[in-house]
Amino acid sequence: MSMEGATMTPRTPTTAPAGTATPTDSADAAIRAGQLRTDDAGSRLTLERHVRDTDRAVALARDVVTGLTSIPRALPPKWFYDATGGMLFDEITRLPEYYPTRRERAILDRHAGDIAAACPADTLVELGSGTSTKTRLLLDALRDGGSLRRFVPFDVDEQTLARAGQGLLAAYPDLTVHAVVGDFERHLGRLPAGGRRLVAFLGGTIGNMRPAVRTEFLRTVRAQTAPDDALLLGTDLVKDPDRLVAAYDDGAGVTAAFNRNVLTVINRELGADFDVRGFAHIALWNAADSWIEMRLRAVRDQRVSIDALALTVDFERGEDLLTEISAKFTPDRLDAELAAAGWATAQRWTDPDGDFAVTLATPSSHPVAAPI
Ligand code: AVJ
Repeated sequence: MSMEGATMTPRTPTTAPAGTATPTDSADAAIRAGQLRTDDAGSRLTLERHVRDTDRAVALARDVVTGLTSIPRALPPKWFYDATGGMLFDEITRLPEYYPTRRERAILDRHAGDIAAACPADTLVELGSGTSTKTRLLLDALRDGGSLRRFVPFDVDEQTLARAGQGLLAAYPDLTVHAVVGDFERHLGRLPAGGRRLVAFLGGTIGNMRPAVRTEFLRTVRAQTAPDDALLLGTDLVKDPDRLVAAYDDGAGVTAAFNRNVLTVINRELGADFDVRGFAHIALWNAADSWIEMRLRAVRDQRVSIDALALTVDFERGEDLLTEISAKFTPDRLDAELAAAGWATAQRWTDPDGDFAVTLATPSSHPVAAPI
């Protein structure tokens, strides 16, 4: 099916109060004007842009066609995160049942100094950056150690990046920020080079990838890594399935709202007519694959039209749409996956309950064996 006819409603830009133009606004304007790279005159903020709204529109259209016409039906989790989804995720991180964010923050609180000592980088690269509290723990440690010069946040959402970057410039007067708007799956090979880099991928987000995609991801980062660079990886660990499931099926129903929000995104951006209430939130532990699955289960037969795609999809009562996997690791499994991608575990920190791990890995053998 052709994507040519897909029409998209751009997301509503967040508006600043009148008379408060900031460098962020000019950066936003330049980005909207389509410049790949924006150097704010005299400022320390650079925005490098590999993704535009139109790319995003086409990618969503493609994922929806593929995901809703295949069996079992599935959608990639990245489409949860519009403005509402971002807010709901923030709320999730504060839920009593959702421990990963608190555990990871506790680990970084305690060990950011150890991390900076093990890898006194001048550049902190943060993949899938977003909330800045964890970032600041690392920036503080690198600054206090005297090595910090540059922060490279890499995220698909330019608004998030521009605002986070601006806040950090104010808080760190000696820091330059080189923000990269890009998609992990396509632009990871273009991280800014130079200096000694600590590449952080936190939050357990690597768990959203299937094993083959994880390996590919780790190899892509490894392929552009110098001997002194390091990778800092946050991962959730295997534990009692009841606790795992509760973390993805909270009593207040926030995760359910987050899950259903993907249907709202498709309704708005592709002119679909999903009855969001017609789908139940499901969270289950898939022990064989060692991951949590979130699904949306049709509570009755229903037909959905997706105008922008000229597509009609029938759901039978009880039919599932897989919306997210969130893999949970054992330390051994992590070490093996890292090794297969050319990384050696240098140090690992866990919280006292052993719920979550932060791993510092350094380049080992080249990921692809050289011919002898
Ligand atoms: C942001 C991908 C780490 O998998 O735990 C939270 C997303 N989904 N609750 C996770 C999420 C449902 C989260 N990550």
